[in-house]
Amino acid sequence: MTQSGLGADVRRVLPAAPILDRRAYELAGGGRGIATARKLGPDATIKELRASGLRGRGGAGFPTGTKWQTVAGYASPDVAATVVVNGAEGEPGTFKDRAIMRSNPFAVVEGALVAAHAVGADRVVLALKRSFDIEAELLEAALDGCTEAGWCEGVAVAVSRGPTDYLFGEETALLEVLDGRPPFPRLAPPFRQGVDEIGPEPDDPGGAVFATPGAGGAPPTLVNNVETLANVPGIVADGAAWFRTVGSDESPGTVVCTVTGDTVRHGVEELAMATPLGEAIERVGGGAAQDRRLVAALSGVANPAIPAADFAVPLSHEGFRAIGSGLGAAGFIVFDDGTDLAAVAAGISRFLAVESCGQCTPCKLDGLAISDHLRKVCGTEGNQLDLVAVEDRLATVADGARCYLATQHQVVVGSLLRLFPAPFTRHVEGRLDEVDPVLVAPLHDIVDGVAVLDDSQATKQPDWSHDPVDSGKAPAERLAAS
Ligand SMILES: Cc1cc2nc3c(=O)[nH]c(=O)nc-3n(C[C@H](O)[C@H](O)[C@H](O)COP(=O)(O)O)c2cc1C
Ligand code: SF4
Repeated sequence: MTQSGLGADVRRVLPAAPILDRRAYELAGGGRGIATARKLGPDATIKELRASGLRGRGGAGFPTGTKWQTVAGYASPDVAATVVVNGAEGEPGTFKDRAIMRSNPFAVVEGALVAAHAVGADRVVLALKRSFDIEAELLEAALDGCTEAGWCEGVAVAVSRGPTDYLFGEETALLEVLDGRPPFPRLAPPFRQGVDEIGPEPDDPGGAVFATPGAGGAPPTLVNNVETLANVPGIVADGAAWFRTVGSDESPGTVVCTVTGDTVRHGVEELAMATPLGEAIERVGGGAAQDRRLVAALSGVANPAIPAADFAVPLSHEGFRAIGSGLGAAGFIVFDDGTDLAAVAAGISRFLAVESCGQCTPCKLDGLAISDHLRKVCGTEGNQLDLVAVEDRLATVADGARCYLATQHQVVVGSLLRLFPAPFTRHVEGRLDEVDPVLVAPLHDIVDGVAVLDDSQATKQPDWSHDPVDSGKAPAERLAAS
């Protein structure tokens, strides 16, 4: 939690060496966040958070203080709120939450405890994928340390493990999992009551009761990303002005960046917000391989592609918005001039079409059709009509979408077609060799500077089974009753 200023290393949430012991954490300044929050009280703590300008690091960049104030504003005399830590990291090209949980687990727990204090929660759930064994173990150990120190007083904290599906990270799907159902996003009013079912029809998710101020019952659940919460102790202990000494006005603080793809190495590093993307790619990834030229980057599979001509863009929400993209979770997949971007588009399309839950018909059916046409484009059987069909389906894939996944399909694939039409047309004209879609999958790990993909994605069927043949049923249909 020390900071050495712009231009130099800025280490606030990702220490140079893991801090896994409470004494070491306290020596580095840990524990002052929860102590200060208790001294300040909820209102002043939320005020500090708002003044800091901290924005959610889960992808959307929503102002954290505003979210906390809204949850606190719905406080109920009947039931306390719950804080859920979103540690379900599954965005392809992103490893920053696991890097933080592995090297600074106390900060994640302390941040969640400050959040609980601020919104009047008596429960914190640290939600991780069931494959995140290392992170779960380290968080459990940190939790024991925090309990010993008395930081958890009045709050029950537990680690909860969920499925490996991409949608588990979507916050309403995550709440569904905590309620014992598959990770299918809820209809999206801003806040639905409770983690557990509360309301007249507990067996009917569609009949859930929605929170309204002063209505009693249960307050909404606060869901924040791991990195967001890891920033909280420092803000509360050292103040909003300290937090703002790094970054831009609209996007203050640091951002933990992952760089993978066609770079010399892969890795995760904490950088000042507003660092130019090109510099981030250089510092974290070592830039392009010899005799190669970088042509584009993607922030996960969530935002339009960034052509190399825009690599001066600062790592900020406003900077990325100005070039027509989005910062997302700052997990950058980088491509050089040796990569077939039509095969990349086909791989992304397959990933998103498979991961779609199928509650919204266009998302699943148009998504699978886009994936199929792009696979044909990259193979020998594709023609111009496949490209026309892709455009047609992209126009409708997000119709009536309940969550953002369908829009991701539309904007990511659409941007690759618009910015890099050549590989697509060269394939259908037979001027490029046939190629398989690139495997697009969540990162399993980064080992010695090399990203390891979760290769089970390669055999995952659109019905979310790993059967040899897909059943043709959407996951929402196949798994809802199970
Ligand atoms: C398909 C999809 C996947 C997501 N995956 C994650 C994830 O793995 N981790 C995460 O923190 N947020 C993820 N999000 C964003 C969350 O829904 C939510 O915005 C976030 O947890 C809020 O926390 P924040 O305000 O601290 O950023 C995802 C969203 C979508 C649409
Ligand atoms: S948009 Fe797609 S992923 Fe999201 S809820 Fe609808 S079908 Fe499921």
